Amino acid sequence: MGFKVFFVIAGCSLSLISAEQKDVKLFFQRTCAACHGLDGSARGQNGQKLPGRVLSDVRWQGSKKDVDLVNSILKGKGGMPSFQSQLSEKEVETLVAEIIRPLAARKK
Ligand code: HEC
Repeated sequence: MGFKVFFVIAGCSLSLISAEQKDVKLFFQRTCAACHGLDGSARGQNGQKLPGRVLSDVRWQGSKKDVDLVNSILKGKGGMPSFQSQLSEKEVETLVAEIIRPLAARKK
């Protein structure tokens, strides 16, 4: 009896955690980096040019509001597909704040 209660509670908190947010870093590495590069340089591991735009450009980032970037990622833009079926708005906001913005902070 005691055991059963424990497992029910443990199961609930686990599903709460996974429902909360995707690992946006992993998502970036697996999905976005194919076009933008792991460091946002739009270059692959052998230095080859990738199809995405350079995300690590400090001046370009400075010209963009978070909401613009979030909208482009959710709705898609030019050669970039829409991601709204894979990521929630909240997840994209986290992705912009924790992954995209720090790419520009890095000195090139
Ligand atoms: C199929 C290649 C491809 C993939 C995958 C891709 N992008 Fe892009 N991305 C592009 C291209 C091309 C542009 C330039 C679009 C334009 O300005 O016309 C772009 C532009 C952007 C921009 C700038 C948007 C703006 O408002 O100027 C951001 C931010 C961005 N991508 C983030 C991401 C993130 C985050 C992911 C993963 C969730 C991702 N991209 C996946 C190709 C891609």
